[in-house]
Amino acid sequence: MFLLVPGISAISWAYKTMTNQWNAAEYDAKHAFVYEKARGLVELLAPKAGERILDLGCGTGALTAEIAGRGAEVLGVDRSEEMIAQARKKFPALRFGVLDARELQFKLDKVGKAGGAEFDAVFSNAVLHWIPEGGEVIAGVARALKPGGRFVAEFGGKGNICRLVAGFQRAFATLGQRQPDGVSPWFYPSVAEYAGLLEKHGLEVREASLFDRPTVLEEGERGLENWIRLFRQTFLERMGEENAQRWIQEVERQCRGELFRDGNWVLDYRRLRIAAWKAGS
Ligand code: BEZ
Repeated sequence: MFLLVPGISAISWAYKTMTNQWNAAEYDAKHAFVYEKARGLVELLAPKAGERILDLGCGTGALTAEIAGRGAEVLGVDRSEEMIAQARKKFPALRFGVLDARELQFKLDKVGKAGGAEFDAVFSNAVLHWIPEGGEVIAGVARALKPGGRFVAEFGGKGNICRLVAGFQRAFATLGQRQPDGVSPWFYPSVAEYAGLLEKHGLEVREASLFDRPTVLEEGERGLENWIRLFRQTFLERMGEENAQRWIQEVERQCRGELFRDGNWVLDYRRLRIAAWKAGS
């Protein structure tokens, strides 16, 4: 299948939609904290009027719109067709396109001039932990930036949701099941590991911090199940609904002591926030 993306061009996408289906409405309705909590990251980006900015992994576009509201010319890209469809519906005046962050280094002509060096800044929130090939993403970011351009990003860092993931593992053990592959597929680098990758690709790290950001889930008792069903959807589908239901209930039992407080689930998020510059004027 080929898809025509305004401002981007035709991109072959069929194989990705098989494994990358997001419920964009559910994301907006119950997990808006993903972008609500990142307003401070936009402050760190400090977009200026007229700057050309790439929002990498823009989801349903809330922060793309916030950056555009500061007068910058923003392009939001995301791997998920569902997210981009929702972003376009919410913000019809903005530019969005379907693109995988790993392909940025090969498909720069799809987001701007062939050869790249197009953007004053690349921004990314709550996405890079989904992509184990961190070096490939940074290589693309470095190519996309103009000399002197900046990369400002935040995502899960070393130790992110480690209590929840331990609960996943205990739940499989308690149910007497072998833990399937892919229960915790995320990339959570340390400051040193990620700073090393940035430097290797010619980006000078001026800010890098790892900090706890406990995150209260919406809908009280139902919050953890909602979270697991949104973020582990394809994994649950492989288990089948009956097993998935049993496993989720056991995860809740295992995690309640550490992660349920005053009627709400509070996940042990830990963020890695970075700002890095490409050499040049
Ligand atoms: C996070 O934002 O840290 C996150 C979101 C979904 C799954 C795993 C981690």
